[in-house]
Amino acid sequence: MEILRVTDLKKTYGTGDTAVEALKGVNLSVEKGEFIAIVGTSGSGKSTLLHMLGGLDRPTSGTVSIDGKDIFTLKDEELTIFRRRKIGFVFQSFNLVPVLSVYENIVLPIELDGNTPDKEFVDTIIDTLGLSDKRDSYPNQLSGGQQQRVAIARALSSAPQVILADEPTGNLDSKTSQDVMGLLKVMGERFAQTIIVITHNEEIAQTADRIIRIEDGLIANKEVLTWQKKNA
Ligand SMILES: Nc1ncnc2c1ncn2[C@@H]1O[C@H](COP(=O)(O)OP(=O)(O)OP(=O)(O)O)[C@@H](O)[C@H]1O
Ligand SMILES: [Mg+2]
Repeated sequence: MEILRVTDLKKTYGTGDTAVEALKGVNLSVEKGEFIAIVGTSGSGKSTLLHMLGGLDRPTSGTVSIDGKDIFTLKDEELTIFRRRKIGFVFQSFNLVPVLSVYENIVLPIELDGNTPDKEFVDTIIDTLGLSDKRDSYPNQLSGGQQQRVAIARALSSAPQVILADEPTGNLDSKTSQDVMGLLKVMGERFAQTIIVITHNEEIAQTADRIIRIEDGLIANKEVLTWQKKNA
């Protein structure tokens, strides 16, 4: 089943002489439960694409559909709500709230949405990510890898259908990076989530079902067939 479809997606920043065509017509279809790595050189348009996929910024033209919904037909407020319900984000800079505990950070998106967290589910995530003994700690009392796991737990806690991660292990050593990515993958499989991760790490990319290479604002590879083969 298709969860995400991108059609002729273009994004130009600025106008006139200083205009930068960051995306030049990207087409992409992602199946529910796929784990995708996005790779490409610096400035090729990876983050721009991820931001559009998550509705964090609007494209110049083209469409993004998530779970059948053409997201840019939504008004800003509607888009914010849609995003909060359907998508979990993990960024390189963990974006944790320093005055909130680990647990409070993790359930923040749920509470922002006016809902009560499913404590049992959140505890399962916290356990799986090895954060049980850090529940009541504050971000500045955690190591980088632990903070990143909190950011992942936060992205997972509302059980979003899609997780988008922009170099989530960029600040971590290679052992911790592997652990964090492994956990992300396990969690995604367990909860049937679709995960799209930008990474510069070739080893990490190789663990994905499919690698998408971005070059100069376009997808450079024909579809890698691993996932389809696996599911044939
Ligand atoms: N807000 C912005 N305003 C103007 N230009 C931008 C903006 N954001 C990105 N760009 C430009 O768009 C192009 C693509 O940037 P993008 O951040 O998507 O690259 P990237 O592939 O994520 O690179 P990196 O690996 O360095 O993170 C670059 O030329 C960049 O300078
Ligand atoms: Mg980037």
